[in-house]
Amino acid sequence: MSEAQTSHSNTTAKAKNWADAKPVLKVDDLRIHYETPKGAVIAVAGISFTLYEGETLGLVGESGCGKSTTAYGILQLIQPPGHIVGGEIGLEGKNLIGLSERDFRRLRWTKLALIPQGAMNSLNPTMKVHEQIADVIVTHEGRQSKEKIKQRILDLFKTVGLPARIYDMFPHELSGGMKQRVCIAMGICLNPTVVIADESTSALDVVVQRVVAQTLLKVKELLGVSMIMIGHDMGLMAQMVDRIAVMYAGKIVEIASVHSLFKEPMHPYSQVLIDSIPSLKEKKPLKITEGITHDPRNPPPGCIFQLRCPHVMDVCRSKEPVMRELKPRQEVACHLYEVDAKGEVKNVAASA
Ligand SMILES: Nc1ncnc2c1ncn2[C@@H]1O[C@H](COP(=O)(O)OP(=O)(O)OP(=O)(O)O)[C@@H](O)[C@H]1O
Ligand code: SF4
Ligand SMILES: [Mg+2]
Repeated sequence: MSEAQTSHSNTTAKAKNWADAKPVLKVDDLRIHYETPKGAVIAVAGISFTLYEGETLGLVGESGCGKSTTAYGILQLIQPPGHIVGGEIGLEGKNLIGLSERDFRRLRWTKLALIPQGAMNSLNPTMKVHEQIADVIVTHEGRQSKEKIKQRILDLFKTVGLPARIYDMFPHELSGGMKQRVCIAMGICLNPTVVIADESTSALDVVVQRVVAQTLLKVKELLGVSMIMIGHDMGLMAQMVDRIAVMYAGKIVEIASVHSLFKEPMHPYSQVLIDSIPSLKEKKPLKITEGITHDPRNPPPGCIFQLRCPHVMDVCRSKEPVMRELKPRQEVACHLYEVDAKGEVKNVAASA
């Protein structure tokens, strides 16, 4: 068992039955393309998932699989040549697709907040830290007394573990971990219902990564927000999230509780991801998925993973697998599994 798997088995006590939880955000068949002179890049190819109240959902997958595009799509921040081609996004029962930009602006930060990839590097170098947070508050809530805003910002600092002395500092005077926590403070300053943290721990050293990850967890506990955490680090995901959605080439191929996914990943791509977690305890060669990725403008018919899948079958080349709940709360899109009349799941390759 790898360290990530071990560390997760230590945290399974917090596992929760999400069947009883209230859905907060529902994404249904979301499709996003980027138009290019050589054709449309299909960045998000019809994904569906639900985020529950108080849940942290991890979104993982290799670079370019569409994680950030999904996040921007949910907040309707996709810039040309990108555009949402179809699908529905429901927040607390209200469909967000089709809302005017004016109406949507009211929801950003107050209901839906994004801590974008590389956020700490986009802090304004000419503005003091407190001015940048105050800007967000005043833009959404209007002018208010300086003392009131100062107290709110100092309270936010406390929540994210920043010392009050950085109040008057500029971003360049802060460490990477501190800057990232300023971005988290900005993300939660209007008490949103849903926070999407896109690679908030990437580009930080391992120790600082943990501190920032703990900060996100603390924020979630204190404010009771629901969170989508985008990242690559499966070890960190194991400790941080309740469920994981695995993305490949614009599609979600498996979605399961973190416990199930680490214990028994079902989709061949999830299996590779889990197998690739380095372990010092059992030294093993790093697994690399062989094969080539298809052209995102021209996906092959059938399964999106067929060119790299070690179990590819004839049916995979013609029929697209759909997401099926093969185990309780474990949905997988793969032809490898058949459900018999008794409802038992069989692995076709294993029984051949
Ligand atoms: N402006 C653009 N024009 C054309 N294609 C784009 C554009 N922005 C993104 N893409 C493509 O959309 C796909 C998804 O990109 P996205 O940034 O969402 O991936 P990601 O999963 O967030 O990757 P990473 O882990 O590297 O952040 C990729 O194939 C990417 O090349
Ligand atoms: S559907 Fe076929 S190609 Fe796709 S992951 Fe499953 S076995 Fe592999
Ligand atoms: Mg990204």
